[in-house]
Amino acid sequence: MAGRIPQEFLDQLLSRVDLVEVINARVPLRQAGHDFMACCPFHAEKTPSFSVSPRKQFYHCFGCGAHGTAIGFLMAYEGLEFLDAVEDLARLAGLEIPKTGGGDDGSSRVLLEWLAQADRFFRQQLREHPARQRAVDYLRQRGLTGQIAGRFGIGYAPPGWENVVRALREAGATPDQLIEAGLASRDEQNRLRDRFRDRIIFPIRDRRGRVIAFGGRAPDSDATPKYLNSPETRLFHKRSELYGLYEARAHSQRLQRLVVVEGYLDVVALAQHGIPYAVATLGTATTDGHIERLFRAVEELVFCFDGDRAGRAAGWRALDAALPFLRDGRQISFLFLPEGEDPDSLIRREGQAAFEQRLAQATSLADYLFAELRGRVNPDTLAGRARMAEFARPLLEKLPEGHFRDLMEARLQHDAKLVHTRLRPPAPAPIRTVDHNALLIRTPLRKAIALLLHRPELAQTALTDDVALRDSNQPGIKLLVDLLDILRNQPQLRAAALLERYRETREGAILERLAQWTPEPELAEDQFGFEAEFADILDYLRQRDDPEEQWLEALLQRSAPSALSAEEREALRNFGKVRKV
Ligand code: UTP
Ligand code: MN
Repeated sequence: MAGRIPQEFLDQLLSRVDLVEVINARVPLRQAGHDFMACCPFHAEKTPSFSVSPRKQFYHCFGCGAHGTAIGFLMAYEGLEFLDAVEDLARLAGLEIPKTGGGDDGSSRVLLEWLAQADRFFRQQLREHPARQRAVDYLRQRGLTGQIAGRFGIGYAPPGWENVVRALREAGATPDQLIEAGLASRDEQNRLRDRFRDRIIFPIRDRRGRVIAFGGRAPDSDATPKYLNSPETRLFHKRSELYGLYEARAHSQRLQRLVVVEGYLDVVALAQHGIPYAVATLGTATTDGHIERLFRAVEELVFCFDGDRAGRAAGWRALDAALPFLRDGRQISFLFLPEGEDPDSLIRREGQAAFEQRLAQATSLADYLFAELRGRVNPDTLAGRARMAEFARPLLEKLPEGHFRDLMEARLQHDAKLVHTRLRPPAPAPIRTVDHNALLIRTPLRKAIALLLHRPELAQTALTDDVALRDSNQPGIKLLVDLLDILRNQPQLRAAALLERYRETREGAILERLAQWTPEPELAEDQFGFEAEFADILDYLRQRDDPEEQWLEALLQRSAPSALSAEEREALRNFGKVRKV
């Protein structure tokens, strides 16, 4: 998605807008030294721990861990998608987003226009067509009111081969446009045929409410296929669209959570019975595209699946897709329904309160993950516990850095009883008492990157072609080398622009964390001190092709701080110091 906006434009945008101004317009800020502070808008608190750095153009809450750039702030605070946040900022800065091909060009607009007309046509047929009665009866029998049908724009595609084709051709649509919009196809005799015939129509809307596709249900129980959806088109991508998301957001200004279900009628029935915050995937497994969208809108997701084997498998796939997005503050739980029920049948039988009760008691992602792992091994044997750790490792590695990951690592250590008996059992990490600033820069490499984000101009003090660094195979050093290259070419970039380059990548997660580092107040302005320290670290990194050091670095990259005791952490930190830095 970010790929559609040229890098240079994002750089320019982030150098024009001022994060302090953007935030202050929404959350009044107070100056404190070089930075600005406020009570965090992302969690409830009485004393301010939300800080904004004008120099880095980066905000960070010491309480809940929320952080980001101006783009990230608008996405989080206003619930915007990336492109919309960029658009808003561009307007503020008086900049025009350059058009790069393949985006919202004229032909997409034309297709949207035909889809809007088809949508009006279908809704009108549900009110007027002579054959409408069967569809109306079916909807009634499923318990839907006219009001809810109206809210979701439910319509009817009448029987026959060319109803939509005729109506839209008369309005000026070309055959190719109808095919590209997913409304028609050609048969063997090359005749243009309606895709949807004698079906109840559910319009699928994009985030701005524009109709981009349709789902059609046969109005009787044994027709096959039961549902027919629009094909993939340039406007409709099943892998990232969610049915009902627009309607849920339109219905309430400040959505708290979303419930993810499997069917169109589940969404509609839930809305009718007082749960207007359900969405459905469109007959596909949950993908990272879905998760990304969902977390744009809310911080809390409940996935609802059948309790059978297929439902469990679908739940596990959703968990797997969600792991990389679980930064601190976000929350996922799973609700597996009783045998033979779906959300539609359940809410009708039990009503809103009972269903919300089930939602409140849904299994947390952590509990679900560890229960599944325990189910796969025999946790009573040493070999079983070792296998459990083996299963868990690649999963936990997908989690972004943060408290949540640290806690999951600690829980794995505990559940798999991997802690060596000599070590203290890991107490659930007392997060506030840990010195985060020190932990962030627990290796020299991390310190170097943190310094660079704090003072990008340090890049100019490094060698222009540092062969020793470039050829080093130490883990993580490529990121440092890349940052130095970028900053040498564009010395005016600030931390925010660097972070945006790595948005939603592994490196990005590390950079976001290191951008939270701040020097001790008495050193904050010591430019020469920074230069000397930076040079020292680069020196050290160049010389350090020592296997023992590399082992240590790899260990540090893998081990969560909370999995280590305080003494061990101290020892690891000193280990680095003894050897110079
Ligand atoms: P279900 O078969 O669980 O349907 O499919 P449902 O929502 O309970 O349907 P009703 O209650 O019988 O009307 C769940 C979802 O899978 C997709 C649709 O998106 C559907 O809502 N699906 C299902 C298809 O795309 N094609 C099909 O033939 C069936
Ligand atoms: Mn159903």
